[in-house]
Amino acid sequence: MTDTELKSGDFTEAAEPFQLFASWLKDATASEPNDPTALALATVDTDGLPDVRMVLLKGFDEHGFVFYTNFESAKGREILATMKAAMCFHWKSLRRQVRVRGPVEIVTDAEADEYFASRPRGSRIGAWASKQSRPLESRFALEKAVAEYTARHVIGDIPRPPHWSGFRIVPSQIEFWHDRPFRLHDRVVFTRTKDGGWDKDRLYP
Ligand SMILES: Cc1cc2nc3c(=O)[nH]c(=O)nc-3n(C[C@H](O)[C@H](O)[C@H](O)COP(=O)(O)O)c2cc1C
Repeated sequence: MTDTELKSGDFTEAAEPFQLFASWLKDATASEPNDPTALALATVDTDGLPDVRMVLLKGFDEHGFVFYTNFESAKGREILATMKAAMCFHWKSLRRQVRVRGPVEIVTDAEADEYFASRPRGSRIGAWASKQSRPLESRFALEKAVAEYTARHVIGDIPRPPHWSGFRIVPSQIEFWHDRPFRLHDRVVFTRTKDGGWDKDRLYP
């Protein structure tokens, strides 16, 4: 085994998950060809049937992991019904995976307003024009909606739509995985304790 392979297991010594996540995301930002913040977001519908799709991470700190979406979309409705979700990052260039699961909170209006205001004008118009996840009769219908909202907001700020905001997954578990030779991967899972600290376990690959 080479030195690099031995060193790759150093992350298993981390005492808490957020600094480790920050350092892995930094590595991914340097090495991924695009969208290092992309993650698969898992939810369940009211029948308990899982659902999954990609979203972009737009913020994280010790309180949790934030993404933004249309609350009337499939994912929005599924989360609002359960207030639980899970996410999975996979950075192919690094051969690393991070899994996060836990209860979900809605971000504050101030947080959502600030992020919405930072988006390009076209994306803000799109948030009004798209009835995300509902049937669309034609591309023309979408372009017409975009034209209508563009005309409505020729001047002045574009307010955040009431149905568009952010969710924060508050992790009860965060797992870090790194590829190792012969499928003998390194895995470490952090589990929240009642006093707000973390238990840490290594897992068999
Ligand atoms: C790389 C990538 C990033 C995406 N980011 C977001 C996002 O941040 N928010 C969002 O609502 N949809 C995002 N989407 C689109 C979603 O995957 C999905 O098509 C859409 O949100 C509707 O999902 P739903 O019907 O399950 O609610 C992204 C798609 C890809 C491929």
